Amino acid sequence: GGHKAENIVWSDSLLSTKERSILIGSKGATIWLTGLSGSGKSTIGALLEKRLIEYGLLAYRLDGDNVRFGLNKDLGFSEEDRFENIRRIGEVVSKLFTDCGIITICSFISPYRSDRDDVRKIFERDELPFFEVVYVRVPLEVAESRDPKGLYKKARSGKIKGFTGIDAPYEEPEHAELVLETFVDIALGSSLKCLHAVGAKLRMR
Ligand code: PPS
Repeated sequence: GGHKAENIVWSDSLLSTKERSILIGSKGATIWLTGLSGSGKSTIGALLEKRLIEYGLLAYRLDGDNVRFGLNKDLGFSEEDRFENIRRIGEVVSKLFTDCGIITICSFISPYRSDRDDVRKIFERDELPFFEVVYVRVPLEVAESRDPKGLYKKARSGKIKGFTGIDAPYEEPEHAELVLETFVDIALGSSLKCLHAVGAKLRMR
């Protein structure tokens, strides 16, 4: 349900997700990193992707800033646009990649709990083997003190309106599969921890 078009009929594939993934050699999974700007999502995602590839698993990373240069260049940062941003990523990119057998690493602020829950539902609906929300937790003060792109400074001075954590909300996950504390160690330890947790779940299947 929920679609606008009438007279559409689902076309079944002759291949299962499993049959497709045999060619690639790995089972698809989506690893969803959510957290404030400057919390370490991109750094951890990039390291995770590299390590998985080194292990011989096909991984691919999708990042907020990057996707907004292309597919989602028509979207801004209002609540509705963020909803649409996350919906497209979930429905189009990460779901299809995962179905193909790729370990898809998504790093998006994804500040709204209901938007993340919607993505989770898409995966459950299509019985995709694995979906995980990894919450990259860092106090706002720490993210703000890092300020790698100078965006918090702009937000504080009013040059950016609706910046997450300043004058737009961030809703923490209530049931994250993994919480990474990036207060002390932003990258290496966290990406390893993430890799081990993900590796354990991948092997379980
Ligand atoms: S969202 O909320 O999930 O739709 O955001 P996302 O697609 O991950 O994009 C976040 C990056 O956009 C930059 N940016 C902003 N972030 C938050 N609020 C506002 N208003 C904003 N304007 C621009 C910023 O570089 C974010 O990147 P990260 O890597 O998270 O710092």
